[in-house]
Amino acid sequence: MLAEVLSWCLTPASLDARRTGHLTAAVSLWSRAFRCRADWAEHEAHCHAIVARAIESCERRRTCLVLGSGLVRDVPLDRLASAFEKVLLVDVVHLWPARLKARRHANVALVDRDVTGTTDLLLGRATGLADPLARWISDPTIDLTISANCLSQLALLPVERLERQPGSIRRRFPDLGRRIVEGHLAALSRFPGRVCLLTDSEGRDVDAAGVVLDRRDLLSGVPLPAADEDWDWRLAPIGEWADDHAIVHRAHGFVDFHAAASRRRG
Ligand SMILES: C[S@@+](CC[C@H](N)C(=O)[O-])C[C@H]1O[C@@H](n2cnc3c(N)ncnc32)[C@H](O)[C@@H]1O
Repeated sequence: MLAEVLSWCLTPASLDARRTGHLTAAVSLWSRAFRCRADWAEHEAHCHAIVARAIESCERRRTCLVLGSGLVRDVPLDRLASAFEKVLLVDVVHLWPARLKARRHANVALVDRDVTGTTDLLLGRATGLADPLARWISDPTIDLTISANCLSQLALLPVERLERQPGSIRRRFPDLGRRIVEGHLAALSRFPGRVCLLTDSEGRDVDAAGVVLDRRDLLSGVPLPAADEDWDWRLAPIGEWADDHAIVHRAHGFVDFHAAASRRRG
């Protein structure tokens, strides 16, 4: 608890990230990632293997953009930094563990940015959504973009905050969650280079006997194309979130998201 409070106070996060709750969410993710590290190891190994395949498949390796870089656990940073001329780690907040990992490489830079473009709307400074990925989509040197397990997280805080906004804003964005998920996938499909997507799509509550007690869609009803690999991510063992069940997420890896989307259009 003390470590969490210190992390909240000492992280160089923007006032916006503090006001929107992103810093608090990042600190609690860091704590959970530490407690559940044994359970998450297999998931992280799957993610690294998908990213390694994506790196191999890139003809040119100038800039790599990682969206939702967080604690930089899902992506093999050493490998990315040695393969690419430049690596940009983008997240709404970067805690010290990520900052220290980035500092080990001269060609890795951190960018603190809300990739949903909802911050100004939710803080009452704009009436619509921004397009925060546009500047990178038009950068021809980005040869690999990785969306690193952020898709299912992007809508959580904005939707929660929208509930507390005046009715006029809520009425203008009745489907904000779906819009954010669809918007992220649409933005990924606009990147001209290789796009690698790591995401979860469904949460299951599973009891000690393996019985599924409940299922939740994590992507606001937005369907995904068939992935290159699917696996179970044991997010919370029994006792972490609830005493009577574990939480298991269905996770997916797309080495080449453009190819997967065009197979679906097919
Ligand atoms: C499950 S974590 C991903 C973990 C990360 N890939 C890693 O390797 O540690 C989801 C990430 O999405 C980020 N995120 C949530 N909303 C965001 C937003 N609006 N803009 C940018 N990043 C966001 C969170 O800060 C968090 O780091």
